[in-house]
Amino acid sequence: MTHPVDLQTRDAIAVITVDSPPVNALSQPVRAGLLACVRQAAADAEVRGIVLRCAGRTFIAGADISEFGKPPAEPALTEVLEAIEQADKPVVAAIHGTALGGGLEVALCCSHRVAASDARIGLPEVKLGLLPGAGGTQRLPRVIGVPAALEAMLTGRMLAAAEFAGTPAIEAILEGDIGEAAVEWLARALDAGLAPRRLRDLPVPGAKDLPPDFFDTARKRVARDMRGQFAPRQIIACIEAAVTLPFDEGLKVERDRFIECMDSPQSAGLRHMFFAERQTAKIPDIAAETPTRPIRAVAVIGAGTMGGGIAMCFANAGLAVTLIDTGEEALQRGLETIRGNYQRSAAKGRLSEQDVTTRMGLIRGATQMTGAAQADLVIEAVFEDMALKQKIFRELGELCRGDAILATNTSTLDVDEIAAATVDPSRVLGLHFFSPANVMRLLEIVRGRDTGPDVLATCLRLAKTISKIGVVSGVCYGFIGNRMLEGYGREAGLMLLEGAAPEDIDRVIFEFGLPMGPLAMGDLAGNDVGARVRAQRRAAGRLPADPRYGAVHDRLAALGRHGQKTGKGIYAYAPGNRQPQTDPEVTALITELAADLGVARRRIDDREILERCLYPLVNEGLRILEEGIALRASDIDVVWVYGYGFPAWRGGPMHWAEHVGLEKILDALRHYAKTLGNDYGYWTPAPLLERLVADNTRLADYRPG
Ligand code: CAA
Repeated sequence: MTHPVDLQTRDAIAVITVDSPPVNALSQPVRAGLLACVRQAAADAEVRGIVLRCAGRTFIAGADISEFGKPPAEPALTEVLEAIEQADKPVVAAIHGTALGGGLEVALCCSHRVAASDARIGLPEVKLGLLPGAGGTQRLPRVIGVPAALEAMLTGRMLAAAEFAGTPAIEAILEGDIGEAAVEWLARALDAGLAPRRLRDLPVPGAKDLPPDFFDTARKRVARDMRGQFAPRQIIACIEAAVTLPFDEGLKVERDRFIECMDSPQSAGLRHMFFAERQTAKIPDIAAETPTRPIRAVAVIGAGTMGGGIAMCFANAGLAVTLIDTGEEALQRGLETIRGNYQRSAAKGRLSEQDVTTRMGLIRGATQMTGAAQADLVIEAVFEDMALKQKIFRELGELCRGDAILATNTSTLDVDEIAAATVDPSRVLGLHFFSPANVMRLLEIVRGRDTGPDVLATCLRLAKTISKIGVVSGVCYGFIGNRMLEGYGREAGLMLLEGAAPEDIDRVIFEFGLPMGPLAMGDLAGNDVGARVRAQRRAAGRLPADPRYGAVHDRLAALGRHGQKTGKGIYAYAPGNRQPQTDPEVTALITELAADLGVARRRIDDREILERCLYPLVNEGLRILEEGIALRASDIDVVWVYGYGFPAWRGGPMHWAEHVGLEKILDALRHYAKTLGNDYGYWTPAPLLERLVADNTRLADYRPG
C-alpha cells in the first residue's frame, strides 16, 4: 500500500497531501503520516511555509469512525494537532469538498485556511452522539462567534466556506486547483510578511455581549428539541467553557466530556446507524456494477394523500411526474393539496416562489391511464384492493413501454400476486412510501419473487435521487416495518384490558424516545383504518382466535371514536387541539369490556409496559431476519428509525436488543409465556433468538441463509 500522506517541497513551500480514499478520514496511518510530514517540514530550515491539502473528492472528513470503540492506536490526533499548531511557520489548510469533524479541527489548528468556492465545513459529531473532541468546541467560537458555533455543533449542519470568506475562519476563497492555488496564495502572503497565528490566542468575539441566560436557554431548547440526547448538553457545557475559562482549561473540559460521550451507549447507537444507513444499498446477490435504467419521467396512479406525496418526492428532485386519477374532481383536489403543501413551505421560507412554480410545473395531471404510457417508472398508489390493483397492473403491462418499471405502493397486499397480473413480473416491485411521503425518509423497496436485478438496482439508486433511504424487504404481510408493529400494538391493547392506563402506556414509550406512544399513534392514524384491516384479516383467517385481540380498538371504532379526526379516540381532543385528554368514558368502556372478556385487572408497572411493547417487536424482527425478509439486522434498525421514529440514539430496535442482551429478552419472553399464557403463540421466542443465545452469537454478525 502506498503511504496515505506525502510531502513534497517546491520553492521553499512544503506541500503535505493526504490521499486516503474514500474521504481522507483520520485513520491511524493518516495520523502517523501527517505527524511525520508536519514534523519534517517544520524542522526543515529551507521551508518557509506549509500547505496541507487532500487528494480525491474531499478534504479530511473527520476521524475514522470505524476505529471508534477499538483500543486507541498511536499517535493520538491531539499529538498531530499540537505539531501543526506549534509549527513556527505558517501552515495553510487548502479545503475542498467537505472539512468535517476532526478534519475541520485539523484545519482550525493550521495558522490559516483557504477554500474552494464550493467547499463546506462542519462539525457533525452530534450526529454520532459525540462532540468535537479535538479542540473544535474551543477554536470554532473564536473564529465565528458563540451563537453560530453553537448552532453549527448542535445541528451538525454543513456551512458554506464562502460564507466566512475574509474572516480568520477562511482567509480566502480560491479558484482552480485548490492545492496549487493555496501554494500561490501562501507564497504571496509570505512575501508580504505572513506570520503564523494561533486561533487559541484569539479572544472569543462578542462573549461579553451574550445575554446572561444564553446557555440556560440553550439547555432548555435541547431538552425540548433533542429530547433524551446526551451529547447536545455536553456541547453546550464545552462552549460555555470556551467563554468562561482559559483555552487550555476549556480543552480539558472538552476532553473529559468527549470521553463521556464516546463511552455512552447513545454514541454506540448513532455510530451503528451511520454504517447501517450506508449498508442498505449493498445487496449480496446484486453486483455494484449492475446496469440501471434511466428514470426521467414518472407516473403516479392515484391522487390521494399518498399519491400526491409521492409525486412531490419526484418533483422535489427535479423529475417530471404525471399524476393520474380517473376522477377529474379527485385529480384536481390532489393537485390543489400539492400546491397548498408547497405554498405552506414557501410561507415558512423553506421554498422560494420560484421553487413552487418550478415544482408545480413538473407535475402534470391526467385522467386517463394512457398518461403513464411514456413513463420510465409507474407507481400505483390506489386503494388497498387486490382486484383493483391487478386490473391496473394488467393495463399498465399492456400500455407502458417494455422497459418501464411498474411499482406498487401497497402496504398490506402480496406484491407477487400483483406482479402476476402482468405478462412480465420481472419489471414489478413494491415501493412502500411512509406517510407523509414527501417528508418521511424511509422507502421500503419490496423485492418480488421475479423482480429483475437491474429493476431493484435502479430503484435503490432512485431512492438516493429522491433523498430517501431505501431498504430492501422480501414479500410478506406488512413487510419489515408494519409486520413488527403488530405485536407492539397488540400488547398495548391487551394491557389496556388488563388495567394499564392509556396515558401510562404512551408515556413509557415517549420517555423511551419514540415521538408518541402506540395509542396516540392509533388516534392519529385513525382507529377505523386499523379496525377495517383487522376485520379483513379476521375474515381471511389471518388473526389469532383471541377475542381480546384488538377488542378495545374495534369497540372504539364501532362507536365512531376514530381518533383525532373525530375529536375522540382512546383520548378526547378539544376542538383545534391535538393534546390528548384522558376520557373517563373510555376508562369505563375498557373496564366493562375487560369484565365481558373475563380479563382480570391489575396494576401494570412501567417495566412491564416497555417490555411487552418492545420485546414482541424485536422477536418479530428476528423472525423477519431468519426468513430473509430483511437482509441484515441493521436494515431493520434503519426501517424503524426512519419510518417509525425509533430513537436513532438507541441504534434502532435490533441494536437496542443487543444492548439490552438477547438472553435477557429470551428470559423475559419465557417469563411472559408463563405468567400471561401463550395460547396464541404471542410469547413463543423466534427460533433465531434461541439459537443466537445458545451459540453466544452477536445479532450484528448474523446473515440469513
Ligand atoms: N470514517 C470512516 N468512514 C467514513 C467516514 C469517516 N469519518 N466518512 C465516510 N466514511 C465512509 C462511508 O462509510 C462510506 O463507506 P462505504 O463506501 O464502504 O459505504 C464511504 O466513506 C463514503 O461515504 P458516503 O457514502 O457517506 O459518501 P458521501 O459522498 O455521500 O458523503 C461525507 C461524504 C459527507 C464525508 C459523509 O461520508 C459524512 O458525512 N461522513 C461523516 C463525517 C463525520 O461525521 N465526521 C466526523 C467524525 S467524528 C470526529 O471527527 C470526532 C472528532 O472530533 C475527532
